[in-house]
This record gives sequence, structure tokens and C-alpha cells, in this order.
Amino acid sequence: MSAWIASKGQPLHGRLAIPGDKSVSHRAIMLAALAEGRSHIHGFLEGGDTRATAAIFQQLGVRIEAPEPSLRIVDGVGLHGLKASASDLDCGNAGTAMRLLSGLFAAQAFASTLVGDESLTKRPMRRVIEPLRMMGAQIEAAEGDVPPLRVSPASTLRGIDYALPVASAQVKSALLLAGLYADGTTRITEPHPTRDYSERMLQAFGWPIRFGEGWAEVEGGHRLIATDIHVPADFSSAAFALVAACVIPGSDLVLQQVGMNPRRTGLLRVLAMMGADIRADDAKGNDGEPVADLYVRATTLRGIDVPVDCVPDMIDEFPVLFIAAALADGITRVRGAAELRVKESDRIAAMANGLRALGIRVDETPDGADIHGGSLHGGVIESHGDHRIAMAFAVAAQRASADVEIRDTANVATSYPGFAASTRSIGFDLRGD
Ligand code: S3P
Repeated sequence: MSAWIASKGQPLHGRLAIPGDKSVSHRAIMLAALAEGRSHIHGFLEGGDTRATAAIFQQLGVRIEAPEPSLRIVDGVGLHGLKASASDLDCGNAGTAMRLLSGLFAAQAFASTLVGDESLTKRPMRRVIEPLRMMGAQIEAAEGDVPPLRVSPASTLRGIDYALPVASAQVKSALLLAGLYADGTTRITEPHPTRDYSERMLQAFGWPIRFGEGWAEVEGGHRLIATDIHVPADFSSAAFALVAACVIPGSDLVLQQVGMNPRRTGLLRVLAMMGADIRADDAKGNDGEPVADLYVRATTLRGIDVPVDCVPDMIDEFPVLFIAAALADGITRVRGAAELRVKESDRIAAMANGLRALGIRVDETPDGADIHGGSLHGGVIESHGDHRIAMAFAVAAQRASADVEIRDTANVATSYPGFAASTRSIGFDLRGD
């Protein structure tokens, strides 16, 4: 099992380029595969999750070339051009692939079986199965509504008007993809607006979608036309070096051309409330997605009550926020974040246990935690195969008084290949790949 040993590093300096956005890369492959014509995807994330999505479409007869790293050339087969595969479709660790593809495959004329790794096989799928069945989909899950998912052809799919019970871009996107094939209108409303990449990208591929803050609406029966996509750098991956530069005294770091979609950057609002010194240069649009250079300098952070309405906009950033909170003065309170318990691991428990192992008091609640700022000693961390838990503790270790061993780090490559080498280049002490 792969592991890292990490401890106090140097103040962070330099300019760091971050790999492509995972959410955007998944969607770019999916829509390019269903489009008519050839699409180029620039800045594609060479991560385990997004490669799994590309491999699934290759298995279904789509030609996808990778002439150089982070570029994919996709020859779309059109909305009805996918071909059945006799073998299972392996989503690996990727919840996004499993949930979005359940919607897409519900509309195909052939059956498919979606499987995943140990972590994905524990994740809840009822949230997509239930509304898809309301549309007429034929989907069977394993006991407890977890993967594998067996998706059979539906006689017809009909549009529904659906209010999401939890804010989830994955569920919204699954329904939109099914809605491309459905009779009538599929309308989705959200309890809080979530990332709108599917909506923006459907528009970029020429689908006449209507959407706004917290709602989206599609009608079946149109076409997707090939286009070129420029994937921005993933804010969620940038968040690790961002927090590290906030908490390692003397740091002065630039994160280059980071995706700044407001539905992803709640962490910036929260860090500003905690007293962080982060400046974004004038954001530039990149194919409709804003990007900016982030200039970060170390400061003393203070504990806050994280506003509940920031939670969906920073849902993937809580592991690293817990580290910022552990190193802040006072107590940081997180509430309204029960979704963290059903991510790649139970992130509230994994972070609480890991921080306790390093000497920090954390009081857990069902939907959050109180994190008492303090100082970190060495220890052993179980990442539970969760990429963001491993990376968060690599940041923590840079302020620990002795070595931190972080176990089970292989899945870091699902979202941030090269994390160890690139953070070492700005000053991290991190031993291992
Ligand atoms: C994602 C949506 C979020 C996020 C995940 C990626 C997406 O999940 O946590 O990492 O690409 O749509 P939920 O939709 O379950 O909140």
C-alpha cells in the first residue's frame, strides 16, 4: 500500500500550475462522445477518474485519441451512436462517472452494468435511481441502493419536474442527460445552486438548454454539435497549496489560472472571513469559465462559524478547511455538511480521527464538527483511500512538529496526478510518490 512521510517544509514560494478540472473533464468526454463531429479537449485531467470515463466511452465504440498529455480528440458518434459492451463498465473511484452515466445509459437501447472500486461500491445511488425511475428508467442496484448498477433499456423516458432533496450537481446532471432523450421537458430545481458545468457545456455543444441560479430545464430531441473545450485548472486541487500557503509562515505563492466558477469557490469566502491574505487578479473568461491567478501570503487565521450557505460552494474543500481550522486561533464550527459523510470516505470522521491523531480536539456532530485550533505533533493518518483526505494531511504535516505518516495514498492520482512532486517543487517536505 502506498504511503507518504511528510513533515515541516519550507515557506512556499513560486508559481504553481494545477491540473485540469475533474468535473469539467468528465462532462467534456461525455458530451464530445455524444456530439456529431470531432471535438478537442484541451487541459483534460489525466486522473484516474476522468480516464475511467474516457475508457468507458471507448468500450462503447467512441474513438478517443490522446496525441499528447492533457489533450483528447474525440470523434463523436451522435446521441444514438453508442454501442453495447458485453463487459461491465468500470467507473473506478468516480462518483461523478457513476451518477452521470446512470442517467445517460438509462436512455440507451442496450443494457449496461456500472461497477466501481471498494469506496464507490459503498456510495448511495438511490438519489439518482429514484428520480430516473420516475422518468421511466429501468435501473437495479445492489442491496442498500449501492453499485453495481444494472441499467436496462426503457420503453420510453418522459420529462419530469423534480425538486432535488439534496443540493447535488451529480444528480442534477444525471437527470439532464436522461432529459436529452426524454419526451417533453425535464425541469430540475435545487435547494441551493450547485456547479453548473453540465448546463454551460450543453449550451457550448449547441443544446437549447435554459438555466439560472438553482434551476435548469431541457427538452429532448435536439442534437449536440462537436466543439473545442478548454478545461480550467481545478479549484479543488488548487485548494491544498492555497491553504498551505495561508498557514506556513513566510509563504508567498501564486496559483496560476485557477477555475473561479462561483459555485466552486466558497472556500475563498470562508478563508477571507478567517483572515487569509488571498488576492485574485482580474478573472479572465476561458470559453465561458472564469479563471484567475491567485496570490496567497501567509497570515494568522482565526476560527469562525462557517456560514451554512457556503457549504455547497465548497463541498469538496472541507478536508483542507479542517486543516486551516486546526491551525487557526479559536474554534471553527462546521454545520449543514452531512453530505461529507457519503463522499469518497466519511470525511467528517476521517478528518476528525486524523486531526485527533495529531493532537487537535475535534467534536463531531452528525452534520459537521467543532475544530479547536492548536498545534500539530507527528502521527499516523489513515486516508481510507480518499484522495482529498491524503492531500489535506500532507498540508497539515507541513506544520507538524514531527513526521506524519499518511497511509493509502494511491487514490491521489484520481484527481491530482503528480501532487507529491509538484508540491515539493514549491517547498513541501513530502516523501513518496
Ligand atoms: C461533482 C459534484 C459534487 C462533488 C464531486 C463532483 C460533479 O458531488 O462533491 O466531487 O462533478 O458534479 P455532489 O453532486 O454529490 O454534491
